[in-house]
Amino acid sequence: MDVYEAVTSRRAVRGFIDRPVPREVLERVLSAAAWAPSGSNLQPWHVYVLTGRPLGELKELAGGRVTARDPWDEREYEMYPPTLKSPYRERRSAFGAERYSALGIAHEDWEARQRAASANWKCFGAPAALFCYIDRGLGRPQWSDLGMYLQTVMLLLRAEGLHSCPQMAWSVYRKTVAEVLSPPDDLILFCGMSIGFEDIAVPYTRTGRALLDETVTFVDD
Ligand SMILES: Cc1cc2nc3c(=O)[nH]c(=O)nc-3n(C[C@H](O)[C@H](O)[C@H](O)COP(=O)(O)O)c2cc1C
Repeated sequence: MDVYEAVTSRRAVRGFIDRPVPREVLERVLSAAAWAPSGSNLQPWHVYVLTGRPLGELKELAGGRVTARDPWDEREYEMYPPTLKSPYRERRSAFGAERYSALGIAHEDWEARQRAASANWKCFGAPAALFCYIDRGLGRPQWSDLGMYLQTVMLLLRAEGLHSCPQMAWSVYRKTVAEVLSPPDDLILFCGMSIGFEDIAVPYTRTGRALLDETVTFVDD
């Protein structure tokens, strides 16, 4: 698979079959992803990979909190600014509309939207997941290094015939994740990522993208 194909075939997959992901594949992907760039080569990512019983335990504990309507853990970082300005606000609404209409859920059906969102904490059925942490002493440039690293992981997963879904949703249950992983106190959970083979029976609408001239300015003569 060439890089263009990896980039364009990567998408946030929210339905996985329970075919296991071999450990050696995960090791190959994560070894190659370590070549992702980072400012001054800090390599600020701390990754935990879960499969099997520990992942089952995490899904169970998180599912218990969803059922109990447990409040979310207090935030260690804000996922989005409290008010999103244009054009981000419109892009976010368009994404929500696409995501829920693919599942046949009406915008006003809050319960159904919550049910769909709660699949996050079952990792959408994925048999493998990773959790990416960063040291709380590091700043915005290092958080962006994490993004480059995670995208590299997702592209390499495509090369292995696998799909993924990055998930900030896990940060709202970060204490439950910590209960299973016992990370050092100086780490903040950025996101989880579900990993596995796609369940093509789960409906999906391809997200759109802004036109090139909305996000890119060529300066030439
Ligand atoms: C850092 C990050 C966190 C995300 N968190 C979630 C999440 O918690 N749950 C989810 O279903 N999708 C999540 N997504 C997926 C985005 O919604 C998705 O990437 C975006 O809508 C574009 O769609 P595509 O990835 O299918 O091209 C996340 C993506 C990123 C990059």
